Amino acid sequence: MYPMKRSLLMRWFPLRKDCSGGKGGHLVILHPSVIRWSANTPVPSDSPAVTAKPLQEIPGRSVWSTFYWLFIKGYFHRLHRFQIIEHNKFGPLWRTGNIVNVADNNLIEEVLRQEGKYPMRSGENLWKEQRKVRGLANGLITAEGEEWYRLRALLNKRMLRPQEAALYQGIINQVASDLIERIRWLRSVNGSGVMVHNITKELQRYTFEAIAAILFEVRLGCLQQKIPEDTQKFIEAVTTMFRSLVYCDLLPKWTRNWLPFWKQYLMAWDTMFDFAIKAVDKKMAQIKECLATGQSVEGQYLTYILASGKMSQSEIYSSITELLLGGVDTTANTLSWALYCLAKDPELQDSVFREICSISPAEQIPTAQDLSKMPLLKATIKETLRMYPVVPSGFRTLETDVVLGGYNIPQRTQLILCHYAMSHNEQDFPSPHLFQPARWIRGAERLKHHPFSSMPFGYGVRGCPGRRIAELEVQLTLARLLKHFQLKLDSGTEEIPARTRIVLIPENPINLQFLDRH
Ligand code: HEM
Ligand SMILES: *[C@@H]1O[C@H](CO)[C@@H](O)[C@H](O)[C@H]1NC(C)=O
Ligand SMILES: *[C@@H]1O[C@H](CO)[C@@H](O)[C@H](O)[C@H]1NC(C)=O
Repeated sequence: MYPMKRSLLMRWFPLRKDCSGGKGGHLVILHPSVIRWSANTPVPSDSPAVTAKPLQEIPGRSVWSTFYWLFIKGYFHRLHRFQIIEHNKFGPLWRTGNIVNVADNNLIEEVLRQEGKYPMRSGENLWKEQRKVRGLANGLITAEGEEWYRLRALLNKRMLRPQEAALYQGIINQVASDLIERIRWLRSVNGSGVMVHNITKELQRYTFEAIAAILFEVRLGCLQQKIPEDTQKFIEAVTTMFRSLVYCDLLPKWTRNWLPFWKQYLMAWDTMFDFAIKAVDKKMAQIKECLATGQSVEGQYLTYILASGKMSQSEIYSSITELLLGGVDTTANTLSWALYCLAKDPELQDSVFREICSISPAEQIPTAQDLSKMPLLKATIKETLRMYPVVPSGFRTLETDVVLGGYNIPQRTQLILCHYAMSHNEQDFPSPHLFQPARWIRGAERLKHHPFSSMPFGYGVRGCPGRRIAELEVQLTLARLLKHFQLKLDSGTEEIPARTRIVLIPENPINLQFLDRH
C-alpha cells in the first residue's frame, strides 16, 4: 500500500522551479518556540523566518548523482538504506529536487506535533487519479480535508481502541487454526515433512483471509488447498497494481497511450473494486433479508458501518477496498520478518515459547487478555518493526510556511520523514543491526530512546487506523505458531536483505522448517 507516499523521479525533479506556489498564508515557527503570525502582522526583522535560509539552500545531490545512486548502484530497490547513506552525508535535512527529507528525531517531532486538523500525506498521486478517472469516491487513504475527517470518524469505530480490536480475536484465532492446518499440509506435500517454501506468500493469503473475515464477516477460503478464482484474481491484481504503478509514476503522462502500464494499472484497480463491491453488496442483501424476515442484524465491522447509514454506497466501496489493501502486505511482511528473526535466534525463540506456555499452557488458545502478560512476545514484534518497519518513510505536507532546522519551508512542500534511518540510529538503538527485543522491556537493560525514533504506524489522527487490529493479529498468530512449531531456517539460508517494494519485503524467499513441538 502507500504508493502515493513514495518519492519517484518525476516528482523529485519537476520541471517547474517553484515547488509550492506558496505565497500568502501565515507563517509558523515550529516548536520549541511556536510563534504564529497572521498574514497582515509585520514580521520582525530578527525573526527566525527572516534569518532562515531558503529551501533551495538545503543540501542535496544533483540529478545525475541521484540517477547514478538509484539506477546504476541500484538503491532504487533499497530506498530505506539510501536514507542512511544520505543522512550520513548531509545530516538532518536534504533535498531531492523539491522534496525535503527529514532525518532528525527533534525535527520529525516538530513537523508532526504541529500538524493541523486534517493532516495530509501528499498532494496529487496516482491512487487519487484513478478514483477521479473512474468516477469513484475516495476512501480513507485517498481522501483529504473535511471529506477525510468525516470518513475517518466513522471508520475509526470498532477499530481504533485495543478493546475494540479484541472483538476480533475469535475470528483471528479461527483463521490462525486454518493456517496451522495449511502449514502441516504444505510441508507434507512438498517439503519432506518439514519445509514450507516462501512463507511470505502463505502469509499474504493468511492476512487477506483474516482482514476479509474481520471486515466482511465472511470466509473467503484463501487457505484451502485450492483458492477460489476471484480471490486469486484479487491477490494478483494487487501485485499488478503496485508493479505498474511504479512505471506510471516514473514515466511522463504522454507515454500512457503508447505503453501498457497505465491500462494495466486501471484494470488492476477495476478487479479489486469489483471484488469489494461484490462482497459489500452481498452483505447488504443479507442485512436486508434479515430485516425483512424480522431477524435481528448481527455482525461486527461492515455490518455496523452499513447499518449506521452514514456513508454513501460509493464511499463504502472505496473505503473497504482501501482497508483491505492496507491490511494485507503490511501484516504479512511483518509476520515474515518476525518468523525470520525468531528462526535465526533459537535461544530467543525458546524464551518466547516458554513465556507463551507459562500463560497459556497445553491445548489452550491464547486470548487477547493473555497477550497482555507476554511482554517478551510484544517486545519481539516492536523490535521486528524497528528493524524492518514495513512502511519505512513517513509522508507529510504542511498547510503553512514553516521554518525547519534553519530553513524556510514553503507550505505544501512534500516532506519525507526518514523513519527507517531513525530506527537504525546508533544513539537511540546501540548496535542497531542486532535484533534485541530486550531493548523494549522495562528494566535495567532498557535504554531510553527518543519517542519519535521508531514510528512503524505513523503518527496522530492520520496514523494507521488498523494498528490495534494489526498488533492483535500479529501477536496472536505468532503465539499460535510458536506454540505448535519450532522454527528453523532452511539450511544454507544466507542473510536475507530487505527490498523496498512499496513496503519492505524480503529480497529472497524465506524458507522455514516447521518442526512439531510435543
Ligand atoms: C503491521 C501492520 C501495519 C503497519 C506497520 C501499518 C502502517 C501504517 C502507516 C505507517 C500508515 C501511515 C500513517 C501516517 O501517515 O501517519 C498507515 C496508514 C493506514 N493504514 Fe496501516 N499499517 C498496518 C496495518 C494495517 C491494517 C491491518 C489496516 C486495515 C485494517 C491498515 C489500514 C490503514 C489505512 C486505511 C491507512 C490510512 C489512514 C488515513 O490516511 O487516515 N493498516 N498504516
Ligand atoms: C516445492 O519444492 C521446491 C523445492 O523442493 C520449491 O522450489 C517449490 O517452490 C515448492 N513448491 C511449492 C508450491 O511450495
Ligand atoms: C515469494 O512470495 C512473494 C509474495 O507472494 C512473491 O512476490 C515472490 O515472487 C515469491 N518468490 C518466489 C521465489 O516464489
